[in-house]
Amino acid sequence: MNENFDVIIIGGGPGGYVCAIRAAQLGLKTACVESRGTLGGTCLNVGCIPSKSLLNLSENFHKAKKNFFDQGIEMTDVKLNMDKMMKNKNKSVQVLTKGVEFLFKKNKVTYLRGKGVIFSPTSVVVYDQGEKKSYITKKIVIATGSYPTSLPGIEINEKNIISSTAALSLDSVPKSLAVIGGGYIGLEMGSVWKRLGSEVTVIENLSFITPGMDREISNEFQKILTKQGIKFQLNSKVISIEDLGSGVKIKYQDNKNNTKNEILAEKTLIAVGRKPYTEGLNLNKVGVNKDKSGRIKVNKKFQTNIENIYAIGDVIEGPMLAHKAEEEGIAVAELLAGQSGHVNYNVIPGVIYTSPEVAYVGKTEEQLKKENINYKIGKFPFLANSRAKVNNETEGFVKILADNKSDRVLGVHIIGPHCGDMIAEMALAMEFGASAEDIARTCHAHPTHTEAIKEAALAVDKRPIHF
Ligand code: NAI
Repeated sequence: MNENFDVIIIGGGPGGYVCAIRAAQLGLKTACVESRGTLGGTCLNVGCIPSKSLLNLSENFHKAKKNFFDQGIEMTDVKLNMDKMMKNKNKSVQVLTKGVEFLFKKNKVTYLRGKGVIFSPTSVVVYDQGEKKSYITKKIVIATGSYPTSLPGIEINEKNIISSTAALSLDSVPKSLAVIGGGYIGLEMGSVWKRLGSEVTVIENLSFITPGMDREISNEFQKILTKQGIKFQLNSKVISIEDLGSGVKIKYQDNKNNTKNEILAEKTLIAVGRKPYTEGLNLNKVGVNKDKSGRIKVNKKFQTNIENIYAIGDVIEGPMLAHKAEEEGIAVAELLAGQSGHVNYNVIPGVIYTSPEVAYVGKTEEQLKKENINYKIGKFPFLANSRAKVNNETEGFVKILADNKSDRVLGVHIIGPHCGDMIAEMALAMEFGASAEDIARTCHAHPTHTEAIKEAALAVDKRPIHF
């Protein structure tokens, strides 16, 4: 007899597994289908977690080699052991994916290993190593995520033309790495390999990096990365890549004068975005609607046009961020349990884990201008922050955008040390509808980097103390 569930979630990434745990907590009989063999999706297996591990390890190596001597820490012969570094990264991934399995057991979520196919709005078939099992369910949540996309006519072979997946597991440092795309993945992975000794060139179609980010921050970010030795080839649209065996030949068009140029590199990383992953789910047959970009269309309650089928995370509209998917997972589980789950899309922080980090929440200056919203700006440089100064990490600044009349915080953009953690304070402030004055009047511990936030809030009213 078929096993019955209240909800079956297809996909065990941050959206799916969090949704499963919350649904089970709320008393729903829950199953989660995952075909990868391990839980955690792209994020834990081949995304956020392994990349953050390598960013941390490569930063330690870089500091030991370049910075420690000047700080009075003398070491001889700092050497890279790539095999050990990769094992260290793999261990972190393994511990965390196993951790999700443990959480499933603890919360009584049934883990269905295999590829889930929607047979009807109330049944899911799971295929695993030639075996097929059917399950009946009241609701289905699609949380199948996304996969790296390439450019027309360019095939990622994971040898010399690689995606982020292979870039996380190279067994030696390429002499040169051409990164196609100056977005999150390109800059994080470019930083890793630059620190480990590669000559990194970022080829970007636009005249600036990190589209969508506050432009002043993005310009500063590019300047800092350039100082670190990363080369930028902006306004350059890649049109073809040839794998020569010993390396790659990349042809690109200069968008300003339409000339064609080429560059040779040992490897190239394609980081030009990701696409929603819906192949093999049987959506056409079941009648689930998608938009032009292949994303599943949902209403405000994450419900598709088919009553029992819901979708969350990278397969629907919005930033492809693990924490956005998690919020949606919780919200949809609560809605399915009859509660009023919801996601505040105005307050989804974003972080790029380079050195220094870049973090933001809320609107950019460009968005405020476009929406004709009058705003005030308060800025404070880390150069004037005592903690940053003693730690020799003075690059970057905090920028707070507040409504001109009400003083309500509309956006916060930071480039600087530890700002990936600091942005949480600003997200909380914005959730509570804080004004810049509220932040300015909140006592911040001394000496911490967070004082730069308080000072930027004071600067909104032109009264910073230390600058
Ligand atoms: P992205 O969308 O961030 O950046 C892609 C870049 O490629 C853009 O700047 C675009 O202009 C450029 N591009 C497109 N076609 C090109 C061409 N023919 N030649 C040269 N440049 C071209 O995409 P990315 O970096 O692949 O990241 C994918 C997703 O993963 C993003 O949505 C991001 O949010 C997410 N992600 C988030 C991370 C984080 O939260 N720290 C880390 C890694 C990924």
